[in-house]
Amino acid sequence: MLDQDKSAAPGREGHEGRDGRVDFELRPPRLEDVVPYMDFLAQRDVSIWLDDSAQLPVGPAQVEKLLLHDAWAIWAISVDGRFAGVTSLYDPNPLTGTAYLSIVLGEQRHWGQGLGNDIVREVLHRGFTQLGLRKICSEILAPNGAALALHRRIGFHEDGVLRQDAWRRGKWVDRIVMSLLRDEFEDENNE
Ligand SMILES: CC(C)(COP(=O)(O)OP(=O)(O)OC[C@H]1O[C@@H](n2cnc3c(N)ncnc32)[C@H](O)[C@@H]1OP(=O)(O)O)[C@@H](O)C(=O)NCCC(=O)NCCS
Repeated sequence: MLDQDKSAAPGREGHEGRDGRVDFELRPPRLEDVVPYMDFLAQRDVSIWLDDSAQLPVGPAQVEKLLLHDAWAIWAISVDGRFAGVTSLYDPNPLTGTAYLSIVLGEQRHWGQGLGNDIVREVLHRGFTQLGLRKICSEILAPNGAALALHRRIGFHEDGVLRQDAWRRGKWVDRIVMSLLRDEFEDENNE
């Protein structure tokens, strides 16, 4: 049974990164995150990998709705006490115990240091052990090398390819559908 009560969702408190890695905290989003998140979405190198809806200018009301009202389980990523992005589990299906993962590390200076890896592992932990999910899915555009590498390193399986499913940088690109089962995550992490 999935925990549908966002306010009661466990694990919304902070989390410190592991030894030797960049420290981060996952906390509930706040109203003051809206403008910086709009700034992240305005960066083409960030937004190009996101939904079609993020390919057009996104206004404050839309971002506020996304961050504070619509999401099932959403966390602001804080690094050194500064808002650095957003990660979420969305579209939960209580019948199948599935949900989708998203991560946007908007501060590009943090890329390539293993932070995305650590954050996704923490979100998976929360999704599987605290929110009762059985399977977590993720959709990655094929040219997004960093996101693909991250998911593969964590152990996501490639379920299939939605061919020529999004228009980016002047051409149609494939969308890779990946998933990780709770059992696979627990085996990997000896939980
Ligand atoms: C995707 C994202 C979360 C990755 O965060 P990160 O902190 O840089 O990730 P990590 O450092 O943990 O891992 C990145 C991996 O990609 C690899 N990588 C980086 N750039 C790459 C590229 N162009 N091609 C292939 N691999 C690449 C790194 O070597 C690393 O792999 P490794 O751990 O096996 O060495 C971050 O870049 C981001 O938020 N991007 C914009 C939004 C986005 O793409 N979100 C995901 C949508 S599915």
